[in-house]
Amino acid sequence: MALTLIDISHLLVTRGNAQYGGEAVSQLEHALQCAHLAELAGETPELVTAALLHDIGHLLAPEGEGAERAGRDGLHQCVALPFLRALLPPAVLEPVRLHVDAKRYLCTAERGYQDALSPASQHSLELQGGAYSVEEAVQFVSQPFAHEAIRLRRYDDAAKVAGRSTPAFEHFMHTLATVTARHALASQMPVALPA
Ligand SMILES: [Fe+2]
Repeated sequence: MALTLIDISHLLVTRGNAQYGGEAVSQLEHALQCAHLAELAGETPELVTAALLHDIGHLLAPEGEGAERAGRDGLHQCVALPFLRALLPPAVLEPVRLHVDAKRYLCTAERGYQDALSPASQHSLELQGGAYSVEEAVQFVSQPFAHEAIRLRRYDDAAKVAGRSTPAFEHFMHTLATVTARHALASQMPVALPA
């Protein structure tokens, strides 16, 4: 089932108060901080939207414990893609799909990156397959949108500060609506904008 803008808004508002992993922020605070950091860095509306939605898979499939959680931590970046594919272009979907792989890449490519991860992120790294080998890292970074995913990863890592102020949710929903409208025009598909 394809998500609409209203579905996405509803998901973020109604389920976004869940804690973001073991971090000191909620899922919605994390999404807003990540999108804000992308915007401050001068990223395109598409990458700002990717930052806003990169973990929406967690809201579609809330995490349980044990093995079930392990599977989801390794796959949350893919859970949402079938639901978003009709609405958003590859410039949004691909960085979302690759943002966990970007963490595995940075652990190999950048000295000190892994040690600087939060304890919760170090734990999820194990569930996600750990640092890449050099060969895997080279293969990763040669893909389209790998560099956007790496930048998204850096915003993701920094978007965990309790109490940090951000623009309102509506600000980023406007960015999302702009990106979906642009994609619909490019695809010659009708799109229902929120009232
Ligand atoms: Fe995240």
